[in-house]
Amino acid sequence: MKIYWKYIKPYLPFFILGPVLMLTEVAGEIVLQKIMGTMIDSGIGDAAAGFGVEYIISRAAMMIGFIALMIIGGIGGHYFAIKASVSFSADLRQGVFEKVQKFSFKNIDSFSTGSLVTRLTNDITQVQNMVRMLLIMAMRSPGMLIGGIIMACSINRRLALVLVVIIPLLAIVIAALLRTAFPRFGVMQKKLDNLNSGVQENITNVRVIKSFVRQKFETEKFSAANDDLMNSTLRAMKIVVTTMPVVTLAMNVTTLVVVWTGGGFVVNGSMGVGELTAFTTYITQILMSLMMVSTLFLQLSRALASSARVSEVLKTEVDLTDENSSAKDKIITEGRVEFKNVYFKYYEKRKDYILNNISFTANPGEVVGIIGTTGSGKSSLVQLIPRLYDVNRGEVLVDGVNVKDYSLRHLRDGVGMVLQKNVLFSGSIEENLRWGDENASTEEIRAAAEAAQADGFVTAFTDGYEMELGQGGVNVSGGQKQRLCIARALLKKPKILILDDSTSAVDTATEARIRQAFSTSLKDSTKIIIAQRISSVIEADKIIVLEDGAVAGIGNHKALMQSCAEYRDIYYSQMDKEKEVS
Ligand SMILES: Nc1ncnc2c1ncn2[C@@H]1O[C@H](COP(=O)(O)OP(=O)(O)O)[C@@H](O)[C@H]1O
Ligand SMILES: [Mg+2]
Repeated sequence: MKIYWKYIKPYLPFFILGPVLMLTEVAGEIVLQKIMGTMIDSGIGDAAAGFGVEYIISRAAMMIGFIALMIIGGIGGHYFAIKASVSFSADLRQGVFEKVQKFSFKNIDSFSTGSLVTRLTNDITQVQNMVRMLLIMAMRSPGMLIGGIIMACSINRRLALVLVVIIPLLAIVIAALLRTAFPRFGVMQKKLDNLNSGVQENITNVRVIKSFVRQKFETEKFSAANDDLMNSTLRAMKIVVTTMPVVTLAMNVTTLVVVWTGGGFVVNGSMGVGELTAFTTYITQILMSLMMVSTLFLQLSRALASSARVSEVLKTEVDLTDENSSAKDKIITEGRVEFKNVYFKYYEKRKDYILNNISFTANPGEVVGIIGTTGSGKSSLVQLIPRLYDVNRGEVLVDGVNVKDYSLRHLRDGVGMVLQKNVLFSGSIEENLRWGDENASTEEIRAAAEAAQADGFVTAFTDGYEMELGQGGVNVSGGQKQRLCIARALLKKPKILILDDSTSAVDTATEARIRQAFSTSLKDSTKIIIAQRISSVIEADKIIVLEDGAVAGIGNHKALMQSCAEYRDIYYSQMDKEKEVS
């Protein structure tokens, strides 16, 4: 509740006005029955005693007045309830989204994307519906219930005794139903998560699925998740539909008892016909409001399951922040990178480290290559520099300062990184490149693209830099995408440039030209290049050979050929392949 207060506060007047206006509707409804009852008894029953048409007209006018009041109250109540719930949930959605933006990679890994999407959409909608229902019903149902009981008692106390039996009985039944319903709603939302995760993965990767002709398999997988969701929904809804007949039955039995007993009272003259009519209406009202309270609780239990999922996101502690950084104003000026006895693993619980005791220095102006088999920890290593993850032991320093002491903004501003799994976004090529520098001039954009060997193919497109990229950059080739990503990173003019296998889809000649361009346009920056091909790093000042998360050797090509067996293995295996090809 506390975490929601922030989102309720701005709309507090609506939150109050809604229920208060609903109360006028309730009051009107209750008084109306009373007037109706007396009108029947006095106006019609006692016509002889002088209550004539005028009396009826004056009462009718009163009733019309109350009805008008009820209409105003009802419309106003609904209006403010909707206004409050919709505004509240819009802010809540914004809040959850902003929270997710702050998440570290580790935080994101702990939720599936599908689950985050469900939480941001369906779950928040559930909460929104709950708030609306609550605002409308919070006063209305209990008001009807209590008002009904008071009026029924005031008409005939003895007859009202039926309520003493029926209300607790119904309450017990409803409570039992709710207890079974709550966990079922939780399961339902989880199944919805599964479905959404599946859909998300499928649609993002639809090209791969088609190329492997996996549609049938995927359809079956979806169908299973869909059936799962359907079954769990049916299980939950069974409870919902059970409450209805239970309450209806109670209502009919009670009416029967009331009419039977009350009929006797009317015959022996201790009760008027109008009183009995009003009484029966109040009983119906009481039971109806009980039913509404029970549906309200059902809705509530469903929404509570959703609310717990939303607040889980809001409560997640972002485990990677710069709140306690000691050098917030420092910016990266040189780009010297130092690893000192760094240990790293993705999950605390894992026994062994992914990176073991890594130490090395990369100096400004140097090109440092990193080579090693897949899974040896190359990507993990470089992700520690811009703090996409934090080390477990040891430290990573940039310009002699621990990366944890920089503000994340300054740190990441100084590091240009092309991730192994890189993406472009929908929008024009120019817009995508501007991610590197919003204020770049056209010349600067072209220069960066030229250095990344992208200018040639971009200008060959009919729209050039204005060409619209599809979602994820689907309408350019893999190698073109890589070059655009490099250009985007270059535009930052980073002091540290990190390329994680970013030229794998580019031919060797073009790759060599890109490397050549770095040595002029980023002469003083530190360049860290992860590569599969030895040819990509052969000229590097320093090559780090990684093997199972540990450094197997550091040095230039010549030195490593002499001292490092692992390096020689990689070298000869690649030479053999080249021979086979040629
Ligand atoms: N996000 C992640 N969560 C958990 N484990 C991961 C994650 N990314 C990589 N790993 C694991 O870390 C190890 C090193 O992976 P990685 O650094 O990507 O190697 P490389 O880039 O050299 O191929 C692998 O065993 C891989 O399974
Ligand atoms: Mg990798």
